[in-house]
Amino acid sequence: MSKIIEAKGITKRFGGVVAVNAVDLSVEKGQIVGLIGPNGSGKSTMVNLVTGELLADEGGLLFNGHDISRMPLYKRARLGMARSFQMLRLFHSLSVEENLVLASHMRMTTSVVDSLFGRAAAREETERARAKARELLAWFDLQEFAERPVTAMSIGQQRMVEIARGLMSEPTLLVLDEPAAGLSPPNVDKLIVLIRRLRDEFGISILLVEHVMRVVRDLCDRVVVLDSGQKIAEGVPDVVVKDPVVVEAYIGSGWKRRAQA
Ligand SMILES: Nc1ncnc2c1ncn2[C@@H]1O[C@H](COP(=O)(O)OP(=O)(O)O)[C@@H](O)[C@H]1O
Ligand SMILES: [Mg+2]
Repeated sequence: MSKIIEAKGITKRFGGVVAVNAVDLSVEKGQIVGLIGPNGSGKSTMVNLVTGELLADEGGLLFNGHDISRMPLYKRARLGMARSFQMLRLFHSLSVEENLVLASHMRMTTSVVDSLFGRAAAREETERARAKARELLAWFDLQEFAERPVTAMSIGQQRMVEIARGLMSEPTLLVLDEPAAGLSPPNVDKLIVLIRRLRDEFGISILLVEHVMRVVRDLCDRVVVLDSGQKIAEGVPDVVVKDPVVVEAYIGSGWKRRAQA
């Protein structure tokens, strides 16, 4: 099976802290791979290295077989990467649809400035983005919110919009950082169904950081476990979560409390 992401020996230091230490991580095309580990184990750093928020100090990173290890974030986005953030990055003063249109403006060939002056090309792109936004909102069953402010939605719905924002660029790889954080159990169920559909209907490969174990167990084809920046286990979820090395790493980290929540 071919790999959409292949990281080899990735290392990132912050001063004296080795946040990610010689980690190998791959995501096969069409798979959902989970990244788990106690707080401070390096998950967010690893995700930021994949998407290009951070550049690695050492190691190689391939996207569809091409070396992207020195490539900046915006170019990785153009190649087909998108992400959602744990802390939602939506504009409260804008409508739901405008939030999605704005996301695609970031990637448009004509600049936002042009569109302010109403240039035809920019206007056309904006119209295309608006149509795509409507389509996505319908897919998420949130079309009734299109013209309402983001604040009219529940947190669960805002999380969906955060994911929809990433989909505006029609990514082939979606990186999700704790998409279930703060969701009620019924909304977690909905999220699980939606993420699975993203993979099944659009063929999007997914790298998922998640604390809610139900999400990891239900969705992930494979999980990678980090502890103190190092990979300590890897495999199918049901086996990995019972691995004594993994259980040991989580003891005292509050994992059990969170996992049962
Ligand atoms: N920008 C940064 N500057 C300094 N240290 C950082 C920075 N980001 C993360 N770290 C450190 O790197 C380690 C891994 O952090 P992080 O990747 O956020 O872990 P996780 O997401 O698993 O909780 C921690 O020790 C954290 O304090
Ligand atoms: Mg984190």
